[in-house]
Amino acid sequence: MSKKVAIIGIGQTHFGELWDQSLRDLILEAGINSLKDANIDRNQINSLFVGNMSAGRFAGQEHVAALAADVLGVNAPATRCEAACASGSVAFRAAYTSIVSGESDISMAIGVEKMTDISGPGALTSLAAAGDQEWEAAIGLTFAGLYALIARCHMHEYGTTSEQMAMVSVVNHEHGKNNPYAQFKNPIAVQDVLASSMVADPLHLLDCSPITDGSAAVILASEEVAKKYNNPIWILGTGQAADTLALHDRKSFTELLATKLAAKQAFATAGADRKAIDLLEVHDCFSINEIIALEDLGFCDKGKGGKFVEAGSIKVGKELPTNTLGGLKAAGHPVGATGIRQLCDITKQLRGNAPNQVKGATKGLNLNIGGSGATAVVNILSSDIGD
Ligand code: COA
Repeated sequence: MSKKVAIIGIGQTHFGELWDQSLRDLILEAGINSLKDANIDRNQINSLFVGNMSAGRFAGQEHVAALAADVLGVNAPATRCEAACASGSVAFRAAYTSIVSGESDISMAIGVEKMTDISGPGALTSLAAAGDQEWEAAIGLTFAGLYALIARCHMHEYGTTSEQMAMVSVVNHEHGKNNPYAQFKNPIAVQDVLASSMVADPLHLLDCSPITDGSAAVILASEEVAKKYNNPIWILGTGQAADTLALHDRKSFTELLATKLAAKQAFATAGADRKAIDLLEVHDCFSINEIIALEDLGFCDKGKGGKFVEAGSIKVGKELPTNTLGGLKAAGHPVGATGIRQLCDITKQLRGNAPNQVKGATKGLNLNIGGSGATAVVNILSSDIGD
């Protein structure tokens, strides 16, 4: 890629049911933490991008970018980015683009969602609005329902088992144990997943990411600025792609085309190949999605994701550490904040000071998905500036 951009600061709140913190409080805490981490003043921010899926439905608040600018005391242009659960990564790419274009030299991307102030069914209805309203949500199809259809097809075509899907959650809970910000730190076993209540057959409660409040922020800077800071983490490659909103319009239920296209673009811009990647952050909104992500990103053959997980290859210390701080399942999934949280976790790993540190990690990749795959974003980060 032509111009170089780096992450110079990260910050987040705890993820969980944060009944004593408002949308405003969450933005303030994550934003201030990222400014402190970068050691910069809020007046140095030239642009602000806010990843948020549905504050209007979840918290009765629209105009969230203006709220964030107000709370953080920033007068720079503030823009909201919405792409369902990929809102955070889309905000990150907008911040990246604003620096590459020369409009900014320091930009903040902050993701936030406050999901637990409304009832559980209310939250599910709000989430379902990110599917196709006419063809899916209107007939009661939730995201658990959509991913259950995907899971059934994957089981049918490739022999993927409930035990293999359960293993995804088991590893994510194991990784979440040492993450001070995680919603769930309790270890679970395959039997616990299989014995948990059925949400949408074949997905059990413990195959699902939870409903979460939280915020996460990153500060990006141009090469000239970033070189003045300790430990900048460089954005080596980035890609984004779209697919049909409704599942029934796709040729295949067992792959997410947008993931493949976004990954192709990210690897091409990075000039790196898959062997160079030391760790992944993937979108495990439901356990099956982590298995499909490993396949669609090209880290194992189509249909072999279940076996890859079963072999333990995704654990820290093994072949391809994935979701090293718990992923969406254990760290939590405040939808608009998730993409930014993934990038914060990779940054910790590449700085060399993460809980569950991956030894010698220099490159990490995040995959953030919106809806059932209508949006996909892939970013490749590196501790080296590259060519
Ligand atoms: N993993 C682990 N535990 C969970 C959990 C999860 N995903 N979801 C809820 N729990 C726990 C709660 O902490 C609570 O425990 P407690 O009784 O010890 O306090 C218990 O289960 C019941 O919680 P509740 O909030 O009543 O659960 P619920 O049945 O209303 O919702 C799901 C559970 C799985 C249906 C809900 O979390 C969900 O829909 N998740 C998917 C969200 C989603 O679609 N995101 C977008 C992805 S594209």
